Amino acid sequence: MDKLQIEGGVPLNGKIRISGAKNAALPIIAASLLTEEPVNISNSPHLHDVTTMIELLACLGVDVTLNEFMEVEIAARRLENYRAPYELVKTMRASFLVLGPLLARFGEAEVSLPGGCAIGSRPVDQHLKGLEAMGAEITVTEGYVCAKTSGRLVGCDIHMDLVTVGGTQNLMMAATLASGTTRLFNAACEPEIVDLADFLNALGAKVSGQGTSTIEIVGVPRLHGGAHTIMPDRVEAGTYLVAAAVTGGRVHLRDVAPKTLGAVLDKLQQAGAELTVGENWIELDMGGRRAKAVDIETSPYPGFPTDMQAQFMTLNALADGTSTITENIFENRFMHVHEMKRLGAEIELHGQSMAVVHGVDQLKAAPVMATDLRASSSLVLAALAAVGTTTIDRIYHIDRGYETIEEKLGSMGAKVRRVS
Ligand code: UD1
Repeated sequence: MDKLQIEGGVPLNGKIRISGAKNAALPIIAASLLTEEPVNISNSPHLHDVTTMIELLACLGVDVTLNEFMEVEIAARRLENYRAPYELVKTMRASFLVLGPLLARFGEAEVSLPGGCAIGSRPVDQHLKGLEAMGAEITVTEGYVCAKTSGRLVGCDIHMDLVTVGGTQNLMMAATLASGTTRLFNAACEPEIVDLADFLNALGAKVSGQGTSTIEIVGVPRLHGGAHTIMPDRVEAGTYLVAAAVTGGRVHLRDVAPKTLGAVLDKLQQAGAELTVGENWIELDMGGRRAKAVDIETSPYPGFPTDMQAQFMTLNALADGTSTITENIFENRFMHVHEMKRLGAEIELHGQSMAVVHGVDQLKAAPVMATDLRASSSLVLAALAAVGTTTIDRIYHIDRGYETIEEKLGSMGAKVRRVS
C-alpha cells in the first residue's frame, strides 16, 4: 500500500493549476446516461473516483473513451443492463447518482445501497422519497434499491427534509425527462449543482433556479448530445491555500473559481493571510506569519464547507489562540483528530460535532494513517508544517480527490515522496 513521506518545515512557494472538480465531474458523468447521443466532457480530473464512475458506466454497457485531448467521450446509446453492483457502489457512494438517470431514461434501475461509510451513516431516504413522488415504484431487496416506472416519471413539487447535494442532483437529473414540471424545494445551492444544471441545459434540458433553494425543471421527452467543461475544484483550491498558510508561505492558484470559495477565503483572511483575487486566480501570502485561530462551523453552501473542515483543523492546531470547530453536516467527521494528536496537536472532542483546538507552536513528525479523503489531506498539511519526516499510510484516500498531489506540492518546494 502506498504511503507519503513528507519532510516538513518548508514554507511553500509557487504557482499551481487547479484541476476540474471531482464533485462536479461525478454527477455530470452519471447524467450522460440521460441521452443516447454522444457527450464530450473536458477538464475532468484524473482521479480514482472518476475512473470508478467511468467503470460503472462501462459495466452498464456504455461506450466511454478518452480522446487525445484527455476529454471523456460518452455515448449511452443502449445499455446491457440497469444494475449498479455493490462491488462498485461500496467503493464510491457517488455511484448512487446513476439511479435517477437510469430510471428516467430506461424506466428501471437496480442500484446497490451505498451502505455504511467512514464519515457517518449517510442515508439516501431523500433521493428515494423524491423519486417515489415522481411516480417510481421502489423496493429495497437484498441491499439493492430496485426502481421502476411504467411510462415517464411525472413532474411534481418535492420538499426535501434537509439539504442534500446528492439528493438534489439525483432528483434534478430524473426530472429532466419527466412529463410536466418538477420543483425542488430546500434544494442544495452548491456550485457543483449549478455546473450539473448547466450541463443538463447544454443537452436541451430546461432547468432554472440552480444555485438557489428552489430549482424548477420542465421535463422534456429527450435530451441531445453536447459538450461541457467541468468547473474548477474548490476543495482542492482551498486545500492548497491552507497548505501555504500553515507553512507561512505563498501560493498562486490559476484556473480557479474564486466566487465559489467565499466562506473559505473569509476565514483565511481572518486567520491573517494576505489574499489577492482575480477573475480566475487567487494569490495567498502568509509572509512567514503564524495564523490566528479562527472558529469554524460547517453548513450547506454558501456556508463553510464540511469538505474544508479537516484542513482548517490543521490551521487551527498550529494557530495562535484557541478555536472551536463545529461539524453540522456529517456525524463522525473528526477521525483526523486522533491522528493529528499523534503529531502533537492539542484538540478536545466534545461529542461528535464539536472540537476545541488549542494552537501549539510546533507539530512533530510521527507515523499517521489516512482515514478518509479530507481527513487525509489535513494530515498532509500537518506533515508539511511539522518538524521532521512524517509517513502517512493508506494514501489511496488522498488519490480519490487530489490529482498528482506530490507533483503539485513538489513544485511549490515541498519535500514529498510516494513510497510503497
Ligand atoms: C456531497 C459531496 C461531499 C460533501 C457533501 C456535503 C459529492 C460526490 N460529495 O456528498 O464531498 O461533503 O456533499 O457538502 O458531491 N442525508 C440524508 N438523507 C439523504 C441524503 C443525505 O439524511 O437522502 C444527509 C447525509 O447523511 C448528510 C447530509 O444529509 O448528513 C448531507 O449529505 P449530502 O449533501 O447528500 O452529501 P453527499 O451528496 O453524499
